[in-house]
Amino acid sequence: MKSKIDAILAEIESFNIKDLKSLEEYRIHFLGSKGIVKNMFGELKTVPGEQKREVGQLLNNLRIVAEDKLNSAKETLESSASDAEKIDLSRPGDVDEIGAHHPLSLVRREIIDIFNRIGYTVSEGPEIEDDWHNFSALNFPPEHPARDMQDTFFIEKGEKEIALRTHTSSVQVRVMENSKPPIRTISPGRVYRNEAISARAHCFFHQVEGLYIDKNVSFADLKQTLLYFAKELFGEKAQIRLRPSYFPFTEPSAEVDVSCTICNAKGCNVCKNSGWLEILGCGMVDPSVLEACGIDSKEYSGFAFGMGVERIAQLKYKVNDLRLYSENDVRFLKQFTAGF
Ligand code: PHE
Repeated sequence: MKSKIDAILAEIESFNIKDLKSLEEYRIHFLGSKGIVKNMFGELKTVPGEQKREVGQLLNNLRIVAEDKLNSAKETLESSASDAEKIDLSRPGDVDEIGAHHPLSLVRREIIDIFNRIGYTVSEGPEIEDDWHNFSALNFPPEHPARDMQDTFFIEKGEKEIALRTHTSSVQVRVMENSKPPIRTISPGRVYRNEAISARAHCFFHQVEGLYIDKNVSFADLKQTLLYFAKELFGEKAQIRLRPSYFPFTEPSAEVDVSCTICNAKGCNVCKNSGWLEILGCGMVDPSVLEACGIDSKEYSGFAFGMGVERIAQLKYKVNDLRLYSENDVRFLKQFTAGF
């Protein structure tokens, strides 16, 4: 019996496991349910009583040697298997998430496209602005409430005040300072106001402001431009109405409403039964603003307008909580995958 065990040990040692096939042959031959090791254990009962203990130990050792060789051969074969052998074609594949443009990007791009078509260029400027470009050049008197800490995030107070811009009109000041009319440009960008964050207000939002300066620009040009814009954005049926308003940098100034696209101006809860939705502010550029920016107000006139991108997105997509736009919740953002 002992010499038989030695012979099997030698056989195990010399068995060449070179691939998965021979690995399986080895397993069946030595460790299978009818394999050699099992048989040997079966023969244990023929061994005389006083030798049982010793032979039993030898058999246990035989089994361990046989199993060790199987396991280590298995490991080396698996780690050296080529990638192609390792690929499990029956596994479900990884699903690639399709990205989406942010709704504000979609709306901003649409607004830019509409104005591009009638010759407006795009101008950008810094988000950190000085008092001159954000306020003074725009005819804000020193005591104007918009300069108050309530509305503006100041970075530096004192002689030369530095703040986060509260509107992109600051970009228009820069354009007027650096170029000669005719000027036809829009300035999209992020703006900041010191407001408590809620569904209806946020400490930052996005604007697109427009500026047109040339000889003989009139209020009628402004109205027609805005009517074109409203129809392009909301459809051919869209109508606009202008209500008198006030901005320090425009005179006269107006607030513009578009006919409610949700109820076709019949009255609903979005337009609060009025049939109209407020979308932007506008007016004729105040001559003192033109002069402050080095443009001769006797020769030139112009109009300006400004709108909130979130507001337009709210009307287009019926998203009523402003906070959703900056929370990056994929459940919200995923809904815009159909956008371009
Ligand atoms: N700058 C104004 C705002 O932020 C919008 C505006 C722009 C109004 C141009 C009139 C003309 O509210």
